[in-house]
Amino acid sequence: MADPAAMSLKQLANDAGAYEFDKSTLYAARSGKLKEVKSLMQLANDAGASTVAQSGKLKGVIRIFDTTLRDGEQSPGATMTTEEKIQVAHQLVRLNVDTIEAGFPAASPGDLLAVREIARTTRGNDVAIAGLARASVSDIDAAWEAVCDAERPVIHVFLATSDIHLKHKFNIDREEALQRVKNMVRYARNLCSTIEFSAEDATRSDWDYLCRIFETAIASGATTINVPDTVGYTSPQEYEALFNYLRNRVPGIEDVVLSAHCHNDLGMATANTLAAIKAGARQVEVTINGLGERAGNTAMEEVVMALRTRPDYFGNITTRIDTQEFLATSRMVSRLTGIPVQPNKAIVGENAFAHEAEIQQEGMLKNPLTYEIMTPQSIGWSNRKLVMGKHSGRHGLDARLRQLGHKLDADQLKVAYSRFIALANEKKHITDAELLYIVESGKETPAAV
Ligand code: KIV
Ligand code: ZN
Repeated sequence: MADPAAMSLKQLANDAGAYEFDKSTLYAARSGKLKEVKSLMQLANDAGASTVAQSGKLKGVIRIFDTTLRDGEQSPGATMTTEEKIQVAHQLVRLNVDTIEAGFPAASPGDLLAVREIARTTRGNDVAIAGLARASVSDIDAAWEAVCDAERPVIHVFLATSDIHLKHKFNIDREEALQRVKNMVRYARNLCSTIEFSAEDATRSDWDYLCRIFETAIASGATTINVPDTVGYTSPQEYEALFNYLRNRVPGIEDVVLSAHCHNDLGMATANTLAAIKAGARQVEVTINGLGERAGNTAMEEVVMALRTRPDYFGNITTRIDTQEFLATSRMVSRLTGIPVQPNKAIVGENAFAHEAEIQQEGMLKNPLTYEIMTPQSIGWSNRKLVMGKHSGRHGLDARLRQLGHKLDADQLKVAYSRFIALANEKKHITDAELLYIVESGKETPAAV
């Protein structure tokens, strides 16, 4: 029979904004700590639920697991020094990520040192620090040595589960891999209370075998189960179906955090990650700028802003990210890795909030909602950019000139516009200095500018 206290809390939660809550939140509520539901934060605070939220169990909050410093850094040419990695880690703390995967400690002594420094210097910020380990004793020992001083240490153990990897990488069969998961997750769990297990190449693994792998990992002590699309092979519908399949079939899966990890080989990493969220993933593994091997990983800024922009579609699912830090973080990662951000990159690309076409500029001047679904300020841009080029119209020119201190009457504007168009046909972008020259000199060709 349904517990009346739990029922009334659920009702209260629904009335207050339809967040869903799982057993542990209801438990916190029944133990008398939850008095009133006002908002998600209020609820979390009242219920003493900050840990509930951080453990990913509050259903409306997605944990952001940043792997810029591990999977991102594996990108060709992206290596950073320990100092640089620490700088990025502190910026990720400002961004308010839940977990920083700081590196792969067994890869080199330098990697171990960098992860250890990050673990030590981020203490006091309530952020989890993860170290990656293959399913071997020496890797797990190295990961533990690196993260053990963190405020919230995590060992992230992985083993490939697709037949392609089992045969060609390890030359072992499925049963042997199952044993290895059992032994190594158990070994790691004896060292650290938070263990993530990843089935590398999960999306090309046999689904029933994957269920057995995850059941074994959970029984051996894994607290997070990650389902990587290692080679960027899946599609949104298929990945969503896989998450539903796992949730329906793996015993104990409701007691762990279910995590998505996608690569962008077919350009679907963000869509796949969002599909996994729809199907119950409560942690997403992402990088800044989508940095990562080959075509990269899921871009954090894209997933977070999609959730924030479309609560109507994603169901009021939130993250703890301070989105206004996105631009600064993106620029720092690009500068330190030497990997530029493409101009049309969603959210953080130079053109993400730039408008040149007349029709867009006119709409924007009337109401930014016409062509903007997010404010540039919410990402850390100081303002949108009206780019002056041959597609710009008279209204756009007038607006830009006003910003530059020139209020022209209709006739003056007509003359300035024809000069502007003549110049715009010659070159891609017209700078502010060139606009001023057109207006102030009355000449057509600002050759000296
Ligand atoms: O893509 C992948 O499979 C990984 C695992 C190590 C999680 O990065
Ligand atoms: Zn990966």
